[in-house]
Amino acid sequence: MEDNSIKIRPFCPNLGAIVTGVDLSKQISASEFKSIKKAFLKYQVLFFQNQKEISPEVQIKLGKRFGDLHSHPAAPTMEGYPEIFEIHAHKNSKIANGEFWHSDVSCDNNPPLGTMLQLHILPQSGGDTMFSNMNQAYEKLSDTFKDFLGNLKAVHESEHVYKSRYSDRGVENSDITYPHAIHPIVRTHPETNKKSLFVNRTFTTQILGLSEFESKNILDFLFNHCESLEFQIRYKWNRNDMVFWDNRCAMHRAIWDYWPMERKGRRVTIKGDKPW
Ligand code: SIN
Repeated sequence: MEDNSIKIRPFCPNLGAIVTGVDLSKQISASEFKSIKKAFLKYQVLFFQNQKEISPEVQIKLGKRFGDLHSHPAAPTMEGYPEIFEIHAHKNSKIANGEFWHSDVSCDNNPPLGTMLQLHILPQSGGDTMFSNMNQAYEKLSDTFKDFLGNLKAVHESEHVYKSRYSDRGVENSDITYPHAIHPIVRTHPETNKKSLFVNRTFTTQILGLSEFESKNILDFLFNHCESLEFQIRYKWNRNDMVFWDNRCAMHRAIWDYWPMERKGRRVTIKGDKPW
């Protein structure tokens, strides 16, 4: 049975839905879980509004309803909570997280299925997050180009992204092994069976089997295509909104337009499958 007190309405025609009528600070019921899961697969990104700040313990439990949690290979975690990645930018920050289009940690062999982020401190203005529908980006291509891409794999790397990235937050990651992986350019969603483009400007560095020149130009085309306005939405956060996105079929980008103001929250990621 699904829960009728949950209200789910589309955010935009291309992706996203606003979810109200569920209190994430309490354990969600089986029927609430069912409604949320169905909406997640349909809309790719859910914006839970009218929420209270939830504790790290509750956020970890909530994330675990959707699968085992993924550990970030390089980012600072919250003290005592290795599953929680604190998103934090302020006047002394040299970088903010997720400033370029990406699917979270696509450099992992098994990149995260989804991410749940709640923001507790917002700048007075700015700090929006953008999302892009990678299933629509795939569907928009010609059949001939879809066939061509269907046989290709790409390399996703992370050293250029993570090396020294978090040193101003006390994380020295000179001794970590930076993950890299090879994934199909077109991936099939394991739950909806829909196909999506799975390349992004942050992590994808090379297409296997093509010359450097061909690889660079096709990747540039794909990055620009995936970032087209028609596939995008832009979300303006309210304090304590929880946003839950599907990394298998949506990319995102956080806008750092609010310096020197502060923006802070906590994120958990749920383990995903090897893309196929
Ligand atoms: C991220 O997880 O990539 C950051 C998203 C955000 O801060 O809005």
